[in-house]
Amino acid sequence: MIQVYENIRQCLTLAGARAKKGRRPTEADLGVVEDAAVVVEKGCVAWIGQTGSLPAQYAKAPRAPAQGAVWLPALVECHTHLVFAGSRALDYGQRCAGKTYQEIAQGGGGILSTMKATRTATPEELLIRAQTELAFFEAKGVRCLEIKSGYGLTLESEIRQLECIAALQKGTQIKLVPTFMPAHAVPPEFKGRADAFVEVICKEWLPAIAERKLATFFDAFVEEGYFSVQQTRRMASAARQLGFKIKLHVDQFTDQGGTALAVELGATSCDHLDSVSAKGVSAIAASETVAVLAPGASVFTGTPYPPARALIDAGAIVALTTDFNPGTCPSHNLPLMMTLACSQMKMTVAEAIVASTLNAAQALGEQASFGTIEVGRPFHVWSVEAETYHEIPYKFGD
Ligand code: NIG
Ligand code: FE
Repeated sequence: MIQVYENIRQCLTLAGARAKKGRRPTEADLGVVEDAAVVVEKGCVAWIGQTGSLPAQYAKAPRAPAQGAVWLPALVECHTHLVFAGSRALDYGQRCAGKTYQEIAQGGGGILSTMKATRTATPEELLIRAQTELAFFEAKGVRCLEIKSGYGLTLESEIRQLECIAALQKGTQIKLVPTFMPAHAVPPEFKGRADAFVEVICKEWLPAIAERKLATFFDAFVEEGYFSVQQTRRMASAARQLGFKIKLHVDQFTDQGGTALAVELGATSCDHLDSVSAKGVSAIAASETVAVLAPGASVFTGTPYPPARALIDAGAIVALTTDFNPGTCPSHNLPLMMTLACSQMKMTVAEAIVASTLNAAQALGEQASFGTIEVGRPFHVWSVEAETYHEIPYKFGD
């Protein structure tokens, strides 16, 4: 089955960005084709060029006009905590009244309060809520999305979260990427015994999740009051031996050397980097590890933005995410993150687009399927009614 789409106002191929592996992308790397036609055959792009140059062999194929549309590769959301129950609106109230993220957590809010709500929710409740949240991402152009566990924090309840992701996958066209994140916080059962918790994760939980094939990635929160560099090295090494790929939450509120650790471990990505050191910037720039930035979490917690400019200029592969979660970013709006990236972190529009497509795909190891519109590659596009692609971050917050 062949389908021809024609008169697309602009089609962004991102071919140049892919050739540069997503580093220091420029406007020219977006590969903009004006008044484009795209031929799709068996789910893959068969031809792309100007509508007036469509080869004669496609003259009789069914045609769909796409006047007024700007096409870009489907967005990739590479970091969410989408399966949970409850709300943290009261935490937000406390933060507006002057408390920090860590103080709220110590006072009974934070990750452990979402953990309590998630543990008591039924599988059906979790699934219905997750379906509702996922629909918002779909409406904003996302076709590939990562989801972490980490609000169960018992083996049984972590399995329930990961099984919810598997059930969610059955009812959606969006490609879901599951991540096991048991080291999100130390649960009450191990209060004051973080090392013992780490041992249980290594010896019992990781093998149990690997055996059930419930997750592609392992993730941990490397932060003061959460997990140390040493504990994370121990867990990530055990995870790697069992076949998990690695992601880490690093240097979000304080510089713990988490970015350098992620590079040392050969992590696929490390995420946040709001407080990364100059050493961390150099280390990640010289590596294949993707630096995933979450400006929505900075806005929402009222903390500094990550140093996007320094990272990109040093040559790092930079991706953007909402970090959708109930505590630090209850927004599903990845295009809004592009606006924050441009206006607040001084990224260019081209850098923000590459960061939300190609580089986000690389942060999930999905770059063979997502991130560009090119001949021979799977057809995943986001079609937007616009005069120019610049309108995507420009019409912000819609
Ligand atoms: O990515 N930093 C750790 N994890 C989440 C927050 C989760 C929560 O507060 O519930 C984040 O920001
Ligand atoms: Fe997160």
